[in-house]
Amino acid sequence: MSENFTTTQSGAPVPSDAHSLTTGANGVTALHDRYLVEKLASFNRERVPERNPHAKGGGAFGELTITEDVSKYTRAAVFQPGAKSETLARFSSVAGEQGSPDTWRDVRGFALRFYTTEGNYDIVGNNTPVFFIRDGIKFPDFIHSQKRLNGSALRDADMQWDFWTLSPESAHQVTYVMGDRGLPTSWREMNGYGSHTYQWINAEGERFWVQYHFQSRQGVHNMNNEEAEKLAGSDADFYRRDLYDNIEAGNFPTWDVFVQIMPYEDAKTYRFNPFDITKVWPHADYPLVKVGHFTLNRNPQNFFAEIEQAAFSPSNMVPGTDISPDKMLMARVFSYPDAQRNRIGTNYNQLPVNQPHAAHVNTYMHEGNMQYHFNDATTRPYTPNSYGGAAAEPERAGEGSWETDGTLVRAAQTLRSEDSDFGQAGTLYRDVFSAESKERFHDNLLGQVAGITRDDIRERFFQYWTNVDENLGQILRDGYAAGNQGTTDGASEQSGKA
Ligand code: HEM
Repeated sequence: MSENFTTTQSGAPVPSDAHSLTTGANGVTALHDRYLVEKLASFNRERVPERNPHAKGGGAFGELTITEDVSKYTRAAVFQPGAKSETLARFSSVAGEQGSPDTWRDVRGFALRFYTTEGNYDIVGNNTPVFFIRDGIKFPDFIHSQKRLNGSALRDADMQWDFWTLSPESAHQVTYVMGDRGLPTSWREMNGYGSHTYQWINAEGERFWVQYHFQSRQGVHNMNNEEAEKLAGSDADFYRRDLYDNIEAGNFPTWDVFVQIMPYEDAKTYRFNPFDITKVWPHADYPLVKVGHFTLNRNPQNFFAEIEQAAFSPSNMVPGTDISPDKMLMARVFSYPDAQRNRIGTNYNQLPVNQPHAAHVNTYMHEGNMQYHFNDATTRPYTPNSYGGAAAEPERAGEGSWETDGTLVRAAQTLRSEDSDFGQAGTLYRDVFSAESKERFHDNLLGQVAGITRDDIRERFFQYWTNVDENLGQILRDGYAAGNQGTTDGASEQSGKA
């Protein structure tokens, strides 16, 4: 007998890995084969609901190092000069399900967790600096329009373009996703962005508005529709495999961390609403300030435990950081922990990947499904108490704040002098895309419009791109009239063009 034997979940040796208990070799199965019952019951419960959205992804661990001094902007321990923090990153697609091909055209999720000495700090962003909508109340409709139809369970170009063209604030992000960045060569070769405006608070309590940028040292490289479509068929896990294999081979990817910093008062009069996630802050106004870099150097030991059960959330903040009055961000702060209580369970924060690794938990919240962590028996389960129990120390929290108008209303954000739904999208198309990028963009959009079956949605498609740039609108109308069907990636074929 060896010491390496299979046991039940309660630790008893099992009689067989291969044969269930039956009445004779060919007879019926005994219900009291408790190991068979336990093994099947465990199997039946292996899946948790996939993330809705961002179901397909992969990730790795590493380290953030702060090389510069940004202490005049934030007191956060994680950003002090020389600080090093264990890091977890997860990259993902937005619309596809867990088994979907990595190379369907989409925005890519770029979620980071820093295990800091003041608690976990998560920055849950994308590979683009903007987003499709600017109020969280529209988010479920947006995601529904990108996923599948109720009846056929197929993706659908009419549905996607119906939503986008009825939501003109989407134009900037749609320009990104229909451009080269919609198909990265790998997760290693894309930049990441916090996308929202966040807040930093320094040791004196002074507030700043910041936007995070993570620039890939591997460079930014993208593939075309043909390559993406081929890979979607031959290797659905192309990005996941690339990240894993590179880290196993010791080829560790690194991103430089920068922030744009806006003085608190500037936000009141800046020409673009700085709390509108559909807009960027031009670098000429607020240049990039270097902070440090992070490197991914360790693959998960167990994908399910460490990546699938990872619960990133914009609500995971640390002293010296905070959110801003961005309506999307405020909705996200509520939404993620709620989703994770449902997806993983009440006590998801007690799992090893979600616990703080460099800070300790001291809370009166307790019990509920699957409680694992508990305080010692002398700790009172309430506060305030007369037994020397923990109490809040507000000066430690280092929270941010802002002034508000006071009256509760349901209204669109106030427009600033240069705010328009199409302005920055037009700038991106005209001034940032190269001539070759423009060609691919036109070709891709012609592939998209070929999938639209309703005349009114097609007409709105042309008008939407005309609003972005008149010349672009004309190129698309002419190309369509001439029967140019463009090219598509796998996702576009899924959405109706095939
Ligand atoms: C109000 C708008 C939004 C809502 C309600 C929302 C909601 C969600 C939910 C429920 C999940 C799944 C969480 C989980 O089960 O662990 C998720 C994942 C994610 N979201 Fe959002 N989202 C919003 C906007 C955004 C924006 C603007 C970005 C990027 C700038 C973003 C980036 C991500 C990423 C990267 C993930 C995957 C995180 C991971 O890898 O685990 N979301 N979102």
